[in-house]
Amino acid sequence: MTADKSGSDPAALLIRCFGPGTQPSSVSVPGRVNLIGEHVDYHGLPVLPMAIQRRVRIAFRPRDDRRIRAVSPPYGEREFEWMKRLEPSASGDWENYIKAAAQAVGMRWSPARGIDAAVVSDLPPAAGLSSSSAVLTGFTLALLQANGVRASFEELMEVLPEGEYFVGTRGGAMDHAAVLGSRSGCALLVHFTPLSACPVPIPKDWAFLVAHSLTTAEKSGEVRAEYNARRTAGSRALERLGFPSYAAVITGSTFDRLKTLAAERLEGAELRSFLHVAGEALRTAEGVAALRSSDASKFGRVLNESHDSLRDLLRVSSPALDALVEASREAGAIGARLTGAGFGGCAIVFCYSSDRQRLAAELVERYYSRHGGFDAGTHLIAAEPSAGALYQ
Ligand code: GLA
Repeated sequence: MTADKSGSDPAALLIRCFGPGTQPSSVSVPGRVNLIGEHVDYHGLPVLPMAIQRRVRIAFRPRDDRRIRAVSPPYGEREFEWMKRLEPSASGDWENYIKAAAQAVGMRWSPARGIDAAVVSDLPPAAGLSSSSAVLTGFTLALLQANGVRASFEELMEVLPEGEYFVGTRGGAMDHAAVLGSRSGCALLVHFTPLSACPVPIPKDWAFLVAHSLTTAEKSGEVRAEYNARRTAGSRALERLGFPSYAAVITGSTFDRLKTLAAERLEGAELRSFLHVAGEALRTAEGVAALRSSDASKFGRVLNESHDSLRDLLRVSSPALDALVEASREAGAIGARLTGAGFGGCAIVFCYSSDRQRLAAELVERYYSRHGGFDAGTHLIAAEPSAGALYQ
């Protein structure tokens, strides 16, 4: 959501905006990058994201009334009364994320106290790194803490994805699971039915770059309709084929068998979405096996295949993302693909640790030097597998 390059201190910002008072409390919520399992979480299929070191930090003080005041440079100050039912603000306004958190907390618990809060972030916004889910999660944790509630991972996972619907995207629950439940040094294998989150250690000699395409994908804007359309097409395909779930689709089947079956009964966007989702589910299982056995070339291959499927079948890539992925592969990445919802934002680039610096330099030459507006600190991140908000 917010971009703050100065690494400024949210507590100092809180005092500057809302005055001195008791020592502020704080929460810190990382962004996440998805390694494999793209556009499948909303169909209940497993995903493999990891939290990264870039994060949203919130300093806050509980209030004695039910008002919520929040400030975030450069988005400004917002203030509202915390009612049980809240009306959304204008589409795209950052206040919606605070209201989504307030609504999520208010639906399940009986909070009495609002907060004054200040937010800073070093996550690039609208880049597929879950900056908005980090803000939503951060405010949820701050409001709960201010009201003396300690919620479990499972309880939070019940309210957070619902909260996101308030902002308008019918997304899945991957982002919240990753930013809450990730462990340092690990990717997080998340299953949704039933919910489980299992850390899988990342080999020490594996490394990732998060490379920004220099184009953004504002989730609350146009991308929202495109994203929701992919979800609907995938669900319709499932209904048409008469399967109860995608998990049932892939159990005991192969991609070739599913392709034959789908081609007989589906067409257009429904056919393409179905093939992407089924293929990505099989790739995720392969990716997890590759990670567990430290098989870098297999892991790189599934990343590459995932991008090709997102580009050709689900059609959520963009010319900029395709060029960036291509440049990464030419520069010697073991695998590269768009990450997150797509339509702009970032690619995840996989290499050996010993090669990361060289690869980053080559990407600057092959991609960034040909595009305006590149800022190394914002657009090319050496992503480290980090702990989620519940494990810091
Ligand atoms: C967005 C959503 C996630 C997930 C990804 C695509 O980031 O918030 O739930 O659907 O897109 O994998």
